[in-house]
Amino acid sequence: MARSIVDVEDLAVAFPGPDGGARLVVDGVSLAVAEGEAMGLVGESGCGKTLTALAAVRLLPHAARVLRGSVRLEGEDVLTASEARMCALRGGVVGFVFQEPSQALNPVRSVGSQVTEAAKLHLGVRGADAAALAGRLLAEVGLDEPERVAHAYPHQLSGGERQRVLLAAALAAGPRALIADEPTSALDTVSQQRLVELIRRLRESRGLTLLFVSHDLALVGRVAERITVLYAGETVETGDRDALFGDPRHPYTQALLQARLGGSDASGDFATVPGGVPRAGEWGQGCRFAPRCPHAWRRCTGARPALTPAGDGRTVRCFLASDEEERRG
Ligand SMILES: Nc1ncnc2c1ncn2[C@@H]1O[C@H](COP(=O)(O)OP(=O)(O)OP(=O)(O)O)[C@@H](O)[C@H]1O
Ligand code: SF4
Ligand SMILES: [Mg+2]
Repeated sequence: MARSIVDVEDLAVAFPGPDGGARLVVDGVSLAVAEGEAMGLVGESGCGKTLTALAAVRLLPHAARVLRGSVRLEGEDVLTASEARMCALRGGVVGFVFQEPSQALNPVRSVGSQVTEAAKLHLGVRGADAAALAGRLLAEVGLDEPERVAHAYPHQLSGGERQRVLLAAALAAGPRALIADEPTSALDTVSQQRLVELIRRLRESRGLTLLFVSHDLALVGRVAERITVLYAGETVETGDRDALFGDPRHPYTQALLQARLGGSDASGDFATVPGGVPRAGEWGQGCRFAPRCPHAWRRCTGARPALTPAGDGRTVRCFLASDEEERRG
């Protein structure tokens, strides 16, 4: 079995609440990305995708606290590693494309100097070598006239060009894995498709392990062969793409797939799933999907289902699925 590159187990993250207590925003996320695999992390806005991705490289906002769970990168415990070790892992082993543009490109530095930042830090590349590397990276991500782009400032580029620059920067030190958080969400449909194609090509040519984060299930399906579905701060289903698309086991995944056929709006809210996502931390004691679930019964509001293996590398958090497994087993 391939070794795990990113391994998150039962993660719980909280922010300080208005009453001085802790407001849980992630509570029960599990996610495992094996070497060489492309994993898609999908779910509606606010379900915890970005915080999970940030926790994987220990870049959670300062106010956030990890209350429970484990996070491992290539088997190393991220929660207890030294800062020096984390610096080596970030960029060197795992490249990261952030969702938040303000964390991405510095407006007053040329693109070329920013693209090679990780190579300077991890590989000691300097001067003419750094300039040549910038040119190669910018060409590799499909930018015409890499020389021009290297000397440009971020505001002189289009949104699509900036996303390619961010990809080039994430790959500069030759990481084995790439985490890309909503890399296409600010782009028009044509630029989205092109960027997805580029990510697929880069994955193949560099042999990358990939964690691709998006609220768009159709897009995730084009990039990833395994998928983890989050709902209200927890993992509700994981499985191979084809199995999950062909036979979704969790009612939320079923609703997502129906919405995929019916479409979702730009915020990722799904018109065909009645009701809304509960506010973070206000989840009650039962199944968090119960208020929107067409199959909910009394048991679902009284207790929270566990994330349970459902055969063939799948896990599902639903009483219906776990009862069925029990009957089979
Ligand atoms: N810095 C913060 N302070 C307080 N709460 C936060 C902070 N960052 C995120 N949250 C809360 O944590 C929850 C999960 O946020 P997260 O950004 O991980 O969601 P997401 O799934 O990435 O959503 P989106 O699709 O909109 O990017 C949300 O309810 C959000 O409001
Ligand atoms: S546990 Fe119950 S409410 Fe929750 S998804 Fe399954 S059937 Fe629906
Ligand atoms: Mg996000």
